[in-house]
Amino acid sequence: MTKARNVSTDRREFLKFLAASPLMAMAMSTGWSAEDLLGAELQGTQGAGLITSPEQAINVFDFEDVARAVMNPAHFGHIATGSDDDATVAANRDGFSKYVIHPRRLVNVSKIDTSIELFGKRLGTPIFLAPAGGQMFCNPEGEIATAKAAVAHDNTMILSTGTTSSIEDVTAARGAPVWFQLYPNGSLSVSRKLIQRAEAAGAPVIAMTVDQLPGRNTETDQRMRRTIPGYTGVREKSPACLGCHAGNRNARRPMTSAALSGDRPGEDAKLDWDFVRQVRDVVKGKFMLKGVVTPEDAELSLKYGLDGVYVSNHGGRSAATGYGTIEALPAIVKAVAGRVPIVIDGGIRRGTDVFKALALGASAVSVGRPYLWGLGSFGQPGVAKVLDILQREFALVMKQAGVTSIPAIAAGRYVTAR
Ligand SMILES: Cc1cc2nc3c(=O)[nH]c(=O)nc-3n(C[C@H](O)[C@H](O)[C@H](O)COP(=O)(O)O)c2cc1C
Repeated sequence: MTKARNVSTDRREFLKFLAASPLMAMAMSTGWSAEDLLGAELQGTQGAGLITSPEQAINVFDFEDVARAVMNPAHFGHIATGSDDDATVAANRDGFSKYVIHPRRLVNVSKIDTSIELFGKRLGTPIFLAPAGGQMFCNPEGEIATAKAAVAHDNTMILSTGTTSSIEDVTAARGAPVWFQLYPNGSLSVSRKLIQRAEAAGAPVIAMTVDQLPGRNTETDQRMRRTIPGYTGVREKSPACLGCHAGNRNARRPMTSAALSGDRPGEDAKLDWDFVRQVRDVVKGKFMLKGVVTPEDAELSLKYGLDGVYVSNHGGRSAATGYGTIEALPAIVKAVAGRVPIVIDGGIRRGTDVFKALALGASAVSVGRPYLWGLGSFGQPGVAKVLDILQREFALVMKQAGVTSIPAIAAGRYVTAR
């Protein structure tokens, strides 16, 4: 079931921020009034032809265009931002073009199986939902909408410490346990509380994000905030801004309110591998670090007894490394040598990207921004359609390449560097 956007509400909201929007520049260059341009776009008649319902989407980027047009610019900017000049966001995407697919012909692919076995569980798809904090800034249903949308293709959901719905509610909405992403700070007792609560809710895997500990410089985010007329520096004045990254949001979010109060989750420059060792002792289930981009840190993960490696650069929004996670993957796969599973995210937008990551040795992939675009555009039906498109594209690539199962993807020589 899908729902069309309420165009008049969107229009009012949009016009409030119009002065600062890129559409204003477009309107001026075309000679149309900005309102005409918006009307044409949202009704899908002419102009840029924005989709007005999820069914119209041809690929996941259709949702990015709608999200940019209808979301509060500060919120969209928070999704879009990378670090510094956003070069690492672009590198994540460009990285995939450095690898090519070698399809095999005349294989019977009338039946394929996209399921994977991970940590002793069979999962319907290798496409996961990466953790993203504060999803109510995209839609009032936030993580609940995302969880419900993940049911159809059995996408594994990784819930952020910064979630705007509790893990108990999200697990109920998903109808299955979710993985929990832990933002550590210097206090082991805070991490212990969060881990124990997540594990009590059934989370089989804890992924501790370590790529943001020294802080970060997200310039696009800062610039977009300033485009809101009257913006004072505090975005969370409105209830819809529960998800915003400003002020004392942690005191109001369900996972962090009890544990963290005013602390900033995920940022603490003094944390080191000894902290990892201590957290390892707390986690009863599977434990991995999210944010590994070097073979050295993958090897240390194994040395410290972790159960997997999550290759990520936070979608290019932590350290400005200038290279894509997919480029980092082969050396990490070599270092890990099949001893533990590898999850990867960063720039995955296409079925071909999923296929390339698996062929290069990842066990599963996560997507971040695409489902947030879906959520910001159309709520739950938007997320559902994004996941549907990725699954459909991926299944098609498997067939085109001549593989019928996920293990066969890594076993063959289907992907090489260009
Ligand atoms: C708006 C937004 C919020 C995010 N919040 C978190 C978070 O709370 N914890 C975390 O570990 N990663 C967070 N991430 C990073 C994602 O988990 C993931 O690493 C990244 O989005 C993957 O890249 P992609 O967006 O290109 O798919 C966030 C990303 C975005 C875009």
